Amino acid sequence: MPSQKISVIATVPSNIALVKYWGKRDPETQWPANDSLSMTLSVAKSITEASVIDGQEDRFFLNDKGFAATCAAKPLNHLRRLRRELGFSSALLIHSSNTFPTSCGIASSASGLGALTLAAIGAWTGAQSWEDLAACGYSMKRLQALARLGSGSACRSFLGGFVEWEAGPSSEAQQINLVANSEHWPLADIIVVVSAAAKPTLSSEGHLAAWTSPLFQPRLALLPERLDRVKAAIKRRDLEDLGREIEAEALDMHAVMLSSKPAANYLLPATSHFLAWLRAERLKSGLSAYFTLDAGPNPHVICERDDAAWVANRIQAEFPQFDLLVDAIGDGPTFGSVPKAENSEWKKSMLTRRQEQ
Ligand code: PMV
Repeated sequence: MPSQKISVIATVPSNIALVKYWGKRDPETQWPANDSLSMTLSVAKSITEASVIDGQEDRFFLNDKGFAATCAAKPLNHLRRLRRELGFSSALLIHSSNTFPTSCGIASSASGLGALTLAAIGAWTGAQSWEDLAACGYSMKRLQALARLGSGSACRSFLGGFVEWEAGPSSEAQQINLVANSEHWPLADIIVVVSAAAKPTLSSEGHLAAWTSPLFQPRLALLPERLDRVKAAIKRRDLEDLGREIEAEALDMHAVMLSSKPAANYLLPATSHFLAWLRAERLKSGLSAYFTLDAGPNPHVICERDDAAWVANRIQAEFPQFDLLVDAIGDGPTFGSVPKAENSEWKKSMLTRRQEQ
């Protein structure tokens, strides 16, 4: 048996983009084509524990199982790249758990790749706190940039609240800005699980194909004004204005996806049915809730957190066949060492939380 050294544990939340990142100026350094803005979530998170082990091979467990082949490539490639770029060589034992049902089709890879980055660097450097990480040369800014190499959207999960990822004039000038913290505006995100099947097109392929769409350049030209309107709506806590912008934005991104070569159609008939219902319901019963969509068929319904139970009940009554994941705005990541005795405790609490949901 390989001997296990001290463990570190990183918890990184997922985020839902309100202004989407779609298309890269440079895939190698993950320089995005446009600025994006997201809301960090509180329930959907990845919790990853890492420790250095003897031997050559990493040992990787997701929800205490080996990785499903379709989900494995991104994290394993990312670990290899981190090792190469940062000059580490030790093999790692990694246990990762998600607080949401683990499937390629539901949540973005932001939380998973973010938590993997933090935990792996913690294990390699021996850092046991944010201060230790900074002392080893890993500032928050550097950690965000390294997480971004695994999954672009992961860099936005390193802050809580409403977060902007600014593309900047060069790849090196990219930055993450806090637009408003989680207390500024308590919004909820109700994820309607229309399908948990794997995506038909990987987002990395979609980002590359975006440039072939005749709608992509017009989108890029209009996005700065859209971003300003979204920021203004957040500042004023104006859900109607925000809702109008994010619905148009999500459909705009999907129009690019559908008109790219090769085209990527992430939507299902049930998705369109749900979106039409939500719009009709707003008119009919004054439901104050708006959708956004990621690279998948599952609508995210954004509403005030105080209305979330009522909105979720309305959705569930109309669509009893779909699971709902009710989430809300939250704070950024946590990082620290795990005393040996506690290792199994956090896994137990994750399990209970998952069963309760
Ligand atoms: O971070 P990636 O490469 O998985 O791309 C994320 C793309 C979207 O989720 C569709 C939009 C976004 O900004 O998160």
